[in-house]
Amino acid sequence: MKQVIIVAKSDNNVIGSGGELPWSLPADLAFFRQQIEGCYLLSGRRSYESEQGKEIFLGKDFVLITHQKGYRAKGGKIAHSIEAGIAMAQKDGAQRLCILGGAEIYRQTINTVDELVVTEVHATLEGDAFFPAIDSTIWQEAQREDHQKDADNPYDYSFVWYQRRDGVNG
Ligand SMILES: NC(=O)c1ccc[n+]([C@@H]2O[C@H](COP(=O)([O-])OP(=O)(O)OC[C@H]3O[C@@H](n4cnc5c(N)ncnc54)[C@H](OP(=O)(O)O)[C@@H]3O)[C@@H](O)[C@H]2O)c1
Repeated sequence: MKQVIIVAKSDNNVIGSGGELPWSLPADLAFFRQQIEGCYLLSGRRSYESEQGKEIFLGKDFVLITHQKGYRAKGGKIAHSIEAGIAMAQKDGAQRLCILGGAEIYRQTINTVDELVVTEVHATLEGDAFFPAIDSTIWQEAQREDHQKDADNPYDYSFVWYQRRDGVNG
């Protein structure tokens, strides 16, 4: 099972502010939907409860990570550790596990996932949730698509695919 992080981050690595996304970028939302097509999803509890979390999970196989016993997620499974969540996806026969954050979940999975799919939002923004620095000795940029801002998308942005360099962990 391939494990992939999907994230959108600003140039200063901000991914969230006050529990929500710090931007509105419809082009990224469309890209995100495309990327998670056919994926088994894994999310932290806070991201699941955020505004943008609400309908992402509808009709999808997913596992939610929380310490809270008795927590329920409609249509999804619950795991009390990331390892248990990954094991559930594996047991359910997932081919591709998309890890959707947030910051706490990214921090605990970036050292073990196979790929990163990153939307770079070309702006320096304020926020309180961050993505870890992407270490180029570990991650090889495989593909990049650059896009200009337009009437609907207020920042330039790039879609970037990273592969873990062979045999490099951590
Ligand atoms: N830009 C992006 O691509 C993107 C993507 C996703 C989220 N975000 C943003 O990121 C922010 C949320 O990130 P966050 O770090 O605050 O929250 P988070 O990672 O979504 O969720 C954290 C919660 O997950 C549970 N958890 C984490 N590690 C666990 C473990 N090892 N075992 C059991 N449970 C564990 C805990 O839930 P309990 O408290 O219930 O125990 C914890 O409070 C929001 O601003 C959101 O908008 C941005």
